[in-house]
Amino acid sequence: MPGSPQWPHHESVVISSGARTGLPVIIAVHSSVLGPAAGGCRIWRYPRWQDGLEDVLRLSAAMTAKFAAAGLACGGGKTVVALPEAYDLTPDRKHDLLSDIGDAVEALDGRYATAPDVGTSAEDMVVIGERTGHVFCKPAEHGGSGGSSPATADGTLAALRAVGTRLGGGTTDGTDGTGGTGPLRGLRLAVVGLGNVGSRLADLLSEAGAELLLSDIDPGKREVADRLGAAWTEPHEALTAEVDIVVPAALGGVLTEQIVPQLRCRAVVGPANNQLALPQVADSLQARGIVWVPDYIASAGGVIHAVTLELDKRTEDEARQRVRGIEHTVAGLLQDADSRGVTVAAVTEELVRARLGTPDLG
Ligand code: PHE
Repeated sequence: MPGSPQWPHHESVVISSGARTGLPVIIAVHSSVLGPAAGGCRIWRYPRWQDGLEDVLRLSAAMTAKFAAAGLACGGGKTVVALPEAYDLTPDRKHDLLSDIGDAVEALDGRYATAPDVGTSAEDMVVIGERTGHVFCKPAEHGGSGGSSPATADGTLAALRAVGTRLGGGTTDGTDGTGGTGPLRGLRLAVVGLGNVGSRLADLLSEAGAELLLSDIDPGKREVADRLGAAWTEPHEALTAEVDIVVPAALGGVLTEQIVPQLRCRAVVGPANNQLALPQVADSLQARGIVWVPDYIASAGGVIHAVTLELDKRTEDEARQRVRGIEHTVAGLLQDADSRGVTVAAVTEELVRARLGTPDLG
């Protein structure tokens, strides 16, 4: 893969067939310029395993950007296990699969460490951890920093606060929104996707006084809306709703050239990875006056928390403080983009390139 014109910068891509399951375990190390690579392990259904390969290439590159922008000494990597559409992942097979993944991670001998992602949990990291020490986010009782979803949601809230301020929402006296003030109070936000991160984020946004429109492909998630007294709609409706901020919190690729003309919001900021179907969609959003904060900034809370505790060996308080620092980071990026008349994406990419010391991210 290195040297291929489409993905010139991946350092290595290893595809192994799990000894127990026969399933393809794909580990991409995009860059180790800033340190050994880290990134979540995604278990997902794909029409063909090659689609999983494409996904892991994009996702691992995004991890490089995420760590670089957050100022952390990690490189970007990712694992994808591409399940065939009809595959029945029974609990026994899942256990075997996690062991296969553990072996594949161990074979990289520290060049990559894995973590939870879509389809894997903190508990799953314990099973992977039986085969390798290169694993983040095991539950605290197993010596890890726990699941990364709460911190990811906290980080997205921080990014949203900066954007709320930019949009002139609520009051900007710096309080956290629970006491009736704060930059998100009274703003209308549509959260698209109520998984671990999205549902926790919905709770936080409700506490911050935002008016919420919630959605998920699973109609069962409607109880989150009922509990919070929020409105409920279908994902496509939520994405194109007339609100202040749309918050993509599910899978990637939602921002296409086709959807941009249909958007009726002032900003799009959320934790879903790889939101842009193509990089130039950032320009189309800008042309419509819609603020977009790159997902790898808005979703960095999880990695900041895990790395601060597990690699930097700092306290939970320090981890939280760093996660809350995303508000300051985003405020700076917004200001920079505004004053130069360019997209936040452009400013952010420059920052990433500067930290990596490379002219081109790939
Ligand atoms: N799902 C997290 C992410 O992609 C995975 C992660 C957590 C990676 C903690 C490293 C450390 O951002």
